[in-house]
Amino acid sequence: MLVLGLESSCDETAAAVVECGFSVRSSVVASQMEVHAEYSGVVPELASRAHEEKMLGVVEQALRRAGCTPRDLDAVAIGHRPGLIGSLLVGLAAGKALAWSLGKPLVGVDHVHAHLISGLLPAPGEGTENSGVEFPALGLVVSGGHTAIYRVDGWQAITRMGATIDDAAGEAFDKAATVIGLPFPGGAGLDRLASRAGADDRSVEFPISRIAPDSLDLSFSGLKTAFLYAARGVPGPGGRYERDGAGLEESRKADLAASFQRAVCRAIVLKLERALDRLGDTAGRPVTALLAGGGVTANTRLRRELGELARRRGLSLRLPRPEYCGDNAAMIAALGFQALSAGRRDGLDLRAEPTTVC
Ligand code: KG4
Ligand code: ZN
Repeated sequence: MLVLGLESSCDETAAAVVECGFSVRSSVVASQMEVHAEYSGVVPELASRAHEEKMLGVVEQALRRAGCTPRDLDAVAIGHRPGLIGSLLVGLAAGKALAWSLGKPLVGVDHVHAHLISGLLPAPGEGTENSGVEFPALGLVVSGGHTAIYRVDGWQAITRMGATIDDAAGEAFDKAATVIGLPFPGGAGLDRLASRAGADDRSVEFPISRIAPDSLDLSFSGLKTAFLYAARGVPGPGGRYERDGAGLEESRKADLAASFQRAVCRAIVLKLERALDRLGDTAGRPVTALLAGGGVTANTRLRRELGELARRRGLSLRLPRPEYCGDNAAMIAALGFQALSAGRRDGLDLRAEPTTVC
């Protein structure tokens, strides 16, 4: 079964062809980074226009690389929630038009849930022998727009256990990076800076938000403010800062970046430990896998710490390959296949849902 996946929820226009659920025949991602960089954030109106310009070309390229024609497709899967409404509508319109004109089934996919399956995807053209997973599993999504922990009992049974109550982890990375003068989106740049030889991850003891003793929610806004003050000083009368964060010495920036990264990772691992303890008491069967996804799973330290956590708790860790950490359509097609296999179909009345709490 060949599924075409479409992704347009934020600032990546993507299409992919996935065979039998996990075999990625092609995965094409067109980034809009250059459109939004000068604003240090994604501008929704510009994002929708860029999706509209790029979508057809991206679909054509995905089909060409997969060596198939539209007629060879068996179904179309669309990331229809959550995301920027104008952006979602572009992918939805394209997917509906394709499914209708080809007379093929259509299925809507939750973008955040799709990140959970991305760790099981092989590189395009590679075998799928590592794609199996036993449930229940613990899920983690850490991206620019979302940060949440899930109990995964099956691909159609994903339950949110906790989530950020303010900023997403990637958003916190990007804002911290902006404070010290790195170009947007600065997560990867901050990661590189923190990895510099000699960077001291204890130079600042940043706060780790625990929220409440049994809470599985996360919060990064306090950490973000603490980083701002550490870089620029506490603002005085008139809100003026003592110094310019971008003008700090490179070694100081590296220390700040390493300390910030340590705090983000500690907060995430702490909540995952809590979630595992809770699942140990309630899941009935032991949790055997940790499924992680989202742009921040590209982070060097987080990957290492998740590896250590998995070893400590006897879990098989499923981290995405670099090309599937960020937004992509292979994960949409893969989760779409699971929904189709479970008998789900959507009609042409499928709606874009900008916000969800699942
Ligand atoms: O999943 P994604 O592409 O988009 C959303 O769905 O939000 O995630 C993008 C986020 C950005 O905030 C970016 O700075 C962050 O992932 N990111 C990183 C790294 N690479 C990308 N954050 C920390 N370390 C990285 N190496
Ligand atoms: Zn995403």
